[in-house]
Amino acid sequence: MPALLPSPTSKFRLRSPFLISGFRTLVTTCRAVLLPHFGGPEVLQLRSDVPVPILKPHEVLVRSCAVSINPLDTRMRSGYGRSIFEPLLPVILGRDISGEVAAVGSSVRSVSVGDEVFGALHPTAVRGTYADYAILSEEELSAKPVSFSHVEASAIPFAALTAWRALKSTARITEGQRVLVIGGGGAVGYAAVQLSVASGCHVATTCGSQSIEKLLAAGAEQAVDYTTEGIEFKIKGKFDAVLDTIGVPDTERIGIHLLNRGGHYMTLQGEAASLTDRYGVVLGLPFSTGVLLQKQLKYRFSHGIEYWWTYMRADSEGLEEIRRLCEAEKLKIPVEKTFPITQVREAHDAKDKNLIPGKVVLEFD
Ligand SMILES: NC(=O)c1ccc[n+]([C@@H]2O[C@H](COP(=O)([O-])OP(=O)(O)OC[C@H]3O[C@@H](n4cnc5c(N)ncnc54)[C@H](OP(=O)(O)O)[C@@H]3O)[C@@H](O)[C@H]2O)c1
Repeated sequence: MPALLPSPTSKFRLRSPFLISGFRTLVTTCRAVLLPHFGGPEVLQLRSDVPVPILKPHEVLVRSCAVSINPLDTRMRSGYGRSIFEPLLPVILGRDISGEVAAVGSSVRSVSVGDEVFGALHPTAVRGTYADYAILSEEELSAKPVSFSHVEASAIPFAALTAWRALKSTARITEGQRVLVIGGGGAVGYAAVQLSVASGCHVATTCGSQSIEKLLAAGAEQAVDYTTEGIEFKIKGKFDAVLDTIGVPDTERIGIHLLNRGGHYMTLQGEAASLTDRYGVVLGLPFSTGVLLQKQLKYRFSHGIEYWWTYMRADSEGLEEIRRLCEAEKLKIPVEKTFPITQVREAHDAKDKNLIPGKVVLEFD
């Protein structure tokens, strides 16, 4: 890890001087974790002189307090999405954030300087949140749940918005429906179980043995250990929606088999990025659209179900509802361990080696 210059001086912590002419800020550079090229954790570089762009009218400058590590961060670091990101290197990793508003663009109305906020960037954002100052659009942020610390809040948005996208925007689950979450032990799966329960749905899930108690306590009616049991024989009945966070051929087959006609199968392992990486943007994107369409048609005719690749999207109404559920103690994603941002390489290494099951959060001083 290169030597660090001092972290932001007291000048950077003042609130009022940030706002000049509506959107220009006094923060012109800050510390950030750069990804100069793809590889292992050792390629990550914590730099102290990374430019902070001038805010656009709809943008918000957030002083980071905590950012959580998502699987996308470690996958991006290793080269996933290289067809999009390689020409843009160096990029800054990180999607989730919890922090304090340092400046707002001229058209921002929903948050003000000094507000505590949480949110998440779109999966393809190039300037991520592993930085003392991150830039998000207004619609990607909401007030931080008051009862949550910054560390707890930073674990929520990307995972919960992914689950929201699948269950609420795509499958449009309603009270009384049956939902199956494959992989309920992970961050997205656990959020999906809690969102489904909060929507009045009957929920079954698959997870490792260590997660069963947690998922039953969250309101799942059945939690099946995928490591020891044949899940397709243990899970009872049929479902209106299946969210498959694992998305391997076996879970896809089981998920589709367990759906009612008219139900929705949603996998988080859509092939758009991997096919684009393999064949390039020009060929890969239309090819992946063709692959998806073919699967959608196949399953519509063979099983009468809707098949989807689900991707996280910003959704200000969804994030607001997620905040309300957090405050009502109906939604939480436990944080297993925190690292200071200076130890970002160690944190990524621990995630790569599966040394820490569960959420890891990077803290800023
Ligand atoms: N498409 C998108 O926009 C999008 C967005 C977010 C995430 N994702 C992807 O979705 C996946 C989950 O993300 P996450 O943030 O929830 O990751 P995570 O918190 O690291 O969770 C992964 C969990 O998967 C569980 N698992 C592994 N194999 C399983 C199996 N065969 N059956 C059931 N559970 C299994 C493990 O749970 P146990 O502890 O119970 O064993 C593990 O904790 C990742 O691959 C991620 O890249 C995609």
